[in-house]
Amino acid sequence: MCGIVGILGKDAVADNLVEALRRLEYRGYDSAGVATLEQGHLAVCRAEGKLKNLTHKLLRQPLSGRSGIGHTRWATHGKPTERNAHPHVTPRVAVVHNGIIENFRELKAELEAEGACFLSDTDTEVVGQLVDREIVRGKDPVAAVEAVLPRLKGAFALAFLFEGEDDLMIAARRGSPLAIGYGAGEMFLGSDAIALGPFTDLVAYLEEGDWAVITRTGAEIHDESGAVVVRPAQKVPPGTLLVDKGNHRHFMAKEIYEQPEVIAHTFGHYLDLTRETVTLPDLPFDLAEIDHISITACGTALFAGSIAEYWFERFARLPVSTDIASEFRYRDTPLGKNGITIVISQSGETADTLASLRYARECGQKTVAVVNVPTSTIAREADMVLPTLAGPEIGVASTKAFTCQLATLACLAVHTGRVRGVLSEDDEHRLVRAMMEVPRLMTEALKLSPEIEALARTLSKARDVLYLGRGTNYPLALEGALKLKEISYIHAEGYAAGELKHGPIALIDETMPVVVIAPFDRIFEKTVSNMEEVAARGGRIILVTDQRGADLAHVEAMQKLILPEMPATVTPMVYALPVQLIAYHTAVLMGTDVDQPRNLAKSVTVE
Ligand code: AGP
Repeated sequence: MCGIVGILGKDAVADNLVEALRRLEYRGYDSAGVATLEQGHLAVCRAEGKLKNLTHKLLRQPLSGRSGIGHTRWATHGKPTERNAHPHVTPRVAVVHNGIIENFRELKAELEAEGACFLSDTDTEVVGQLVDREIVRGKDPVAAVEAVLPRLKGAFALAFLFEGEDDLMIAARRGSPLAIGYGAGEMFLGSDAIALGPFTDLVAYLEEGDWAVITRTGAEIHDESGAVVVRPAQKVPPGTLLVDKGNHRHFMAKEIYEQPEVIAHTFGHYLDLTRETVTLPDLPFDLAEIDHISITACGTALFAGSIAEYWFERFARLPVSTDIASEFRYRDTPLGKNGITIVISQSGETADTLASLRYARECGQKTVAVVNVPTSTIAREADMVLPTLAGPEIGVASTKAFTCQLATLACLAVHTGRVRGVLSEDDEHRLVRAMMEVPRLMTEALKLSPEIEALARTLSKARDVLYLGRGTNYPLALEGALKLKEISYIHAEGYAAGELKHGPIALIDETMPVVVIAPFDRIFEKTVSNMEEVAARGGRIILVTDQRGADLAHVEAMQKLILPEMPATVTPMVYALPVQLIAYHTAVLMGTDVDQPRNLAKSVTVE
C-alpha cells in the first residue's frame, strides 16, 4: 500500500516528512518523494527505491519550507521510476495519492484535448491537472478540489498542497484511510496514526467520503455531501503497536475495512492498469506445458483455492483438483510430470500446507505459493512465490488475506489462459477492467455494515445457520459458515444450494436462518427455487444479492442485502465483505473474543 504524509509546521518540514514516511515503510514501496512550499513556490524532491535515496537527494538539494506533503509509492499505474514517483506537481498544485482512479484514462484524454501535457504514466498526475485546471478557471483551491472529487471513480486517498498557500493542505478519503494529527500551531496528516507518532498523539480519522481543509489552526472536515462534520480527535494509546486498530474496535474490523486499499495494492502489483493486462513475474516453468493444476490449502485459504478452481477451468481451460492440505498428501493421488501444485497460505507456516508442498515437490510437481508473508517457510520452499499484499493480518479470522488471495489467483488464471492461447486479448482487457472496479465495489459493499449489524441481532439468537451458494458462491458459502462459527461459536454449515434437497432440507424450520449468497446470474432462478423450498418450511432467508436478484426473488420471510451490479468474475471478492461482516457483527453481539477466538491460533504450525 502507498503511504501519505503531510505537515503544516512551525519550522522546515522535509526531514519530518521523511521520518513519517519511514514509519510507513511496512506498507511496502518502490519510490518516494516530498513536496514543500519554498517562499510560497512548490518544490519537489523524488527518488526511486528506498527512503535513503530520497534523503541523499535532499542533502544535495535541501528544502526549507514549513509546509509539505510526502509519499511512498507502490507502483500501480506506470513503472517504479522517479518520473512516476509522487508528489506530482503542476504549476499550481502538488498531489500525493494512494489507490486507483478507475476512470483516469478518459479524464486524461479530456485534459489532453485541451492541450494538457503529462510528464508521467500515473493516474495521480491526472488528478493534479484537473485541480489545476479548476484553479485556472478561477476557483480557489478548496472549491477546485470540491469540484474535482465527484469526477473521480475508484477507491483512493489524496493530499494536496498549493502554490502560494503556505497555510493550507487539503485531504480526501474514499476507500483508503487517512488520519489528521493535531499539534500546537502545527497540523499533520498520515495514512495511519503510526506515521504521526513522533509529532502528536491526538488523531482524528476521516470517514468514507470525507475531505478536509487543513490549516495550522485545525481542520474543517466535510462529508461526501459537502456538509461540515465533526470527526472527534482521540488520544492514540502510548506504545501503539506498529500496526494499530485505527478507529476500529477490533483488528478484524480494521482488516475488513482495509480491503479496498489492499486489493488495489495487490492488483496494482499484478496488473498493468494502463495496458489493461496481467503482468506476472516470469515463472520458472512454462505454463503452456502444464496439463493439470492441483490446489491445496487449509481453512479460508482452501476456500480461496476452491473459488480459483472455477477460474482456472473457465479462463485457462485446465483440469483442476482442489483438496484439503491434510488430505492431499495422504491420498497418494497421481501427480503427473506436467502438473503444477498451487499452495495458498496467509501465514506461509501452516504445517499441513507446508507438508503438502513438500509432498508435491517430491512427486516432481512445479510449485507455486500464494502467501501473505514472503519470508515464510512455504515461500522459501516453493519454486515460485506470488505474494498477496494484504499487509499484516492480526485477527485470527482471515479476511483481507482471503480477498487478496482471490485477486492473486484470478490474475494467475487469466495469465495462464493467455499463455495457453485459450483466452483472447479482448477477454483479458475485459477481465482486467472488471478487477480494477473491485476497490470501489468493496467500498460500496462496506456501506451495508449498519444493515448487517441490525440483522446480526437475529443471527445471534440462532443455534445453527446454513449458508448456500452456487458456482463460485458455493466455496464462499463454505467460507461464510467458517467465519461465523470460528468467531461467534454458532454452528454453521455451507452447502451447494442444489444439494439442499438431498438431505440438509431436513434441518429447515423457523429456527434455522439460511444465508443465500446469490448475485443474479444465468442460474439464479434455480437458487430462487431453493429459497422457496426453504420458505415453504418456515426457514428464514437472508439473501445476499444485487438489485436484479432482489427484484426476482419474491420469497416471504426474507431479508435482503443488496450489492451493486458487477461482473460475475469479481463477485466472490466483493460478496466476501458482507459475508465477513455478518460473522463479525454476530460475534460482537455474542461477546466473544473476535480477534483471538477460543481454541484458535493465527497460524497452525502443528499437524
Ligand atoms: C481462517 O479464518 C482461519 N483462521 C483458518 O481457517 C486459516 O485460514 C487456516 O488455518 C489457514 O491458515 P494460513 O492461511 O495461514 O495457511
